[in-house]
Amino acid sequence: MSKKKRIAIFASGNGSNFEAIAQACLKNRINAEVALCVCDHPGAYVTERAKKLEIPVLELRPKSFSSKEEYERKILSELKKEEVEFIALAGYMRIIGPVLLKEYEQRIINIHPSLLPSFPGVDAIGQALKYGVKVFGVTVHYVDETLDGGEIISQAAIPYDGNDREELEAMIHAREHVLFISSLKTLLN
Ligand code: GRF
Repeated sequence: MSKKKRIAIFASGNGSNFEAIAQACLKNRINAEVALCVCDHPGAYVTERAKKLEIPVLELRPKSFSSKEEYERKILSELKKEEVEFIALAGYMRIIGPVLLKEYEQRIINIHPSLLPSFPGVDAIGQALKYGVKVFGVTVHYVDETLDGGEIISQAAIPYDGNDREELEAMIHAREHVLFISSLKTLLN
């Protein structure tokens, strides 16, 4: 197999997708190494997960930068230091701007908890429940300047006819982990 790709995972919160990807890399299921965890919420649980796995963490407060451009330039310089070639957004609650998009064109992917193009943006699961759909799902897609609108890489449908949000979220998260890993495997192996 070719040399392992160095990837960064961006996350803002819990980090269950981060953990699933990092474990899959450690077990050589994905031909990649998680070189950096980027988190815009210092102290978020994802940072603990990363530290336990001895993955370097970059914790930043976006508000302490004078502009989004300056914030992303800081991230970019750390990505370069770590020789990061590919970025996975896993619950990163922020729109990627031109600085990172230009440098990592077609090399940033995101996971979203709906069957895009339905229900982009925040609280996709809540939006879908409110609408009353009976088939939920998850999407892995390339990131571009639009909100959850980049080219679709893979999707999985989850039929669900109940109204227990917790149960549904657990189903969606479990499916996300599988789909994210298989997509990364296809793209990087
Ligand atoms: C996931 O549902 C992902 O699709 C969305 O944010 C959530 C992150 O979950 N973008 P976790 O932090 O990976 O547990």
